[in-house]
Amino acid sequence: MSDSTTLEDGRPAPPAFQTAPRAFIKSFGCQMNVYDSQRMADLAALEGFEEAVGVEDADLIVLNTCHIRERASEKIYSELGKLRELKNERRKAGRRTTLVVAGCLAQAEGAEILRRQPAVDVVVGPQSYHRLPELLRKAEVRSGVIDTDFPVEDKFSRLPASQPETTARRGVAAFVTVQEGCDKFCSFCVVPYTRGAEASRPVAAVLAEIGRLTGAGVRDVTLIGQNVNAYHGLDHAGRTTSFAGLIAAAAAVPGVRRLRYATSHPNEMSDDLIAAHRDVETLAPYLHLPVQSGSDRILASMNRRHRVGDYLDIIARARAARPDIAFSSDFIVGYPGEADDDFEETLDLVRTVGYASSFAFKYSARPGTPAAEMDGQVDEAVKLARLARLQALLEEQRHVFNGACVGRRLEVLFEKPGRHEGQVVGRSPYMQSVYAEGPLSFVGVLAEVEIIGVGPNSLRGRIVSRTS
Ligand code: 5AD
Ligand code: SF4
Repeated sequence: MSDSTTLEDGRPAPPAFQTAPRAFIKSFGCQMNVYDSQRMADLAALEGFEEAVGVEDADLIVLNTCHIRERASEKIYSELGKLRELKNERRKAGRRTTLVVAGCLAQAEGAEILRRQPAVDVVVGPQSYHRLPELLRKAEVRSGVIDTDFPVEDKFSRLPASQPETTARRGVAAFVTVQEGCDKFCSFCVVPYTRGAEASRPVAAVLAEIGRLTGAGVRDVTLIGQNVNAYHGLDHAGRTTSFAGLIAAAAAVPGVRRLRYATSHPNEMSDDLIAAHRDVETLAPYLHLPVQSGSDRILASMNRRHRVGDYLDIIARARAARPDIAFSSDFIVGYPGEADDDFEETLDLVRTVGYASSFAFKYSARPGTPAAEMDGQVDEAVKLARLARLQALLEEQRHVFNGACVGRRLEVLFEKPGRHEGQVVGRSPYMQSVYAEGPLSFVGVLAEVEIIGVGPNSLRGRIVSRTS
């Protein structure tokens, strides 16, 4: 459905005549960036910017970047090259464009970004983006403003709350950052350098944000953090609260019908968190628990500080707590020193667990991380061959899992109209897209759905009854 001010997908349509300045924020990488991009959009709205449809109608363009693998960074530089041309063309026509690079690439490369791409006006890191309004003002009088501080002030308390109508437009599922940063220092990973040390938001701040979201119609809340289960925020009495404690409190917020969390570290899968999977009904039976490798030798070299057996033990305990739980994971192939045998052990682990869905990556040497300096860097062709084999196995498992859902009844939260008239689409507890015949009034509704078919990337279902 669209009217004169909204496009079919619900985004605002560009105006016939440019009135207020418009901002376009493009997110790369992980869920943390999606959340940060929304908060930057809230900041821009407070500064008088309307939401742009794309770069074409935007006066302010923010790329919220990722630095996790080399390819992520290169993609940004090529995008910046195109934006420089756009900016130059507009300048000739007397129109100003402000270009901001935010996120982890900004944090990691700072001034190097301005050197490689002088068209950039502002470089701002993930811990200081609440200062974006003042940085934009500085950029009006001088070029190349950089802020990659790790400020002492609490970023979250300085960010404006999203407007209820903005939240409603963003949909019925939302992310809430509860924890940021990482102290684990896995040998391959840039996150501890770009996002800094682990820090948790206070319980009350998290609950207030969830309450605002559900008040605007959100029903599915994902608590996010680089190491979300290391959460240790303070409650109103100044006591440290565990992640399981936060889950129990979040589940009690009126309107929360489904809770999820990502991303977890195996070493923080405490007994109380596993018990939450048994006790908290709204906690989805789906756990993203990255293992990275199935070889103890490689896990040790990665500084993961857990062994394959520890991981399998967690899987078994989670299954005992919640028999219908399904798992996903991240894997890295071609880590320095990974021999054929190590890789075979990864395949064995995948076969043992049986994943619903997973991500596999080729190891990418990141400057400044210990693994980048290690001997035994693996040949690109070997990496590619291993990636193809692992991805084929994970794909096969995904199909098996989806196929096994046929005939089951799953609770689906409908999120938007489907591709065809009279159809709605939503998500199962396992994050599968589920299409069903049903009226638009089902958007935002949870329903019991019988799964009747499976496609390459989605399931088909028949609505049995509303559950909300
Ligand atoms: N090379 C390849 N993959 C990486 N990841 C993190 N760092 C690297 C790297 N240097 C993967 C891990 C992590 C996911 C978010 O990205 O699997 O869990
Ligand atoms: Fe990176 Fe390891 Fe921290 Fe995850 S736990 S963010 S992989 S250092």
